[in-house]
Amino acid sequence: MKPKTLSTEVIWTTEVDRSILRKFFHNNSISKRYLTSVQIKKVLKNKQWENKTGINLRIYEPKTSLEKILYSRRSRRKINGKKITINEISKLLQFSVGITDKENGYFAYPSPGALYPCTLFLSLDLPGFNNVLYRYNPYQHKLEEYCYDSGQVAGNSIIDDELRKFPIKIFFTSDFQLLEDKYGELSYRLLNQEIGHIAQNLLLYAESLGINATCIGGFYEYEFQKKVPEYDLLYVMVVG
Ligand SMILES: Cc1cc2nc3c(=O)[nH]c(=O)nc-3n(C[C@H](O)[C@H](O)[C@H](O)COP(=O)(O)O)c2cc1C
Repeated sequence: MKPKTLSTEVIWTTEVDRSILRKFFHNNSISKRYLTSVQIKKVLKNKQWENKTGINLRIYEPKTSLEKILYSRRSRRKINGKKITINEISKLLQFSVGITDKENGYFAYPSPGALYPCTLFLSLDLPGFNNVLYRYNPYQHKLEEYCYDSGQVAGNSIIDDELRKFPIKIFFTSDFQLLEDKYGELSYRLLNQEIGHIAQNLLLYAESLGINATCIGGFYEYEFQKKVPEYDLLYVMVVG
């Protein structure tokens, strides 16, 4: 019998898969309905803080509109009942996550290497829009019909019953294209940092429109992936 030999392709592959660490961590931090490695426990202690002498800073009343919005923002877990139009959704997306500098291709939020790895999906329980899961295309400022979702399958990924009732659900996803080519093992951290910026923009803009919103870490990614298997789901927000 001929002895087995390694192909030259294997011998000379020195580049490791730069997504191994991300996949390992991601797969071990996913909430599952019946069996989970994620355990949420009640914390009864207060954060320990050792006071030190230093500069006492003056406290101001919020005056400018930005200060007032920053001051009043809260996670509001009940729908406020205000009718939301597609034009308000358009503004929410344009100013929070859209392209704000066409010439240079910059968005409303900072992004590692200006690669913009996060992609948003939206489920809209509004008349005329409720059978489709949309993907936001910032390059054309357009809600693309990604797939049919008449059963609100994507929305069922939200664990909390009350939050699931919100009419607008925003799913923060990534397919890691380009990001891992450039940043390798740093990518997962960078992506989550970017998502924090996006979420805060959306929360503050919703606050300015007088619409309630809450960001959600409690979701079942595998439910969402029944509709969108190509992307990882990293964060969810409800608006309404
Ligand atoms: C990463 C992250 C995940 C969160 N997940 C949830 C969640 O699953 N459900 C929920 O009701 N609130 C969630 N929240 C909201 C926090 O509970 C809320 O921000 C916190 O209680 C402080 O209240 P405030 O946002 O009104 O200032 C989350 C917040 C963050 C930043």
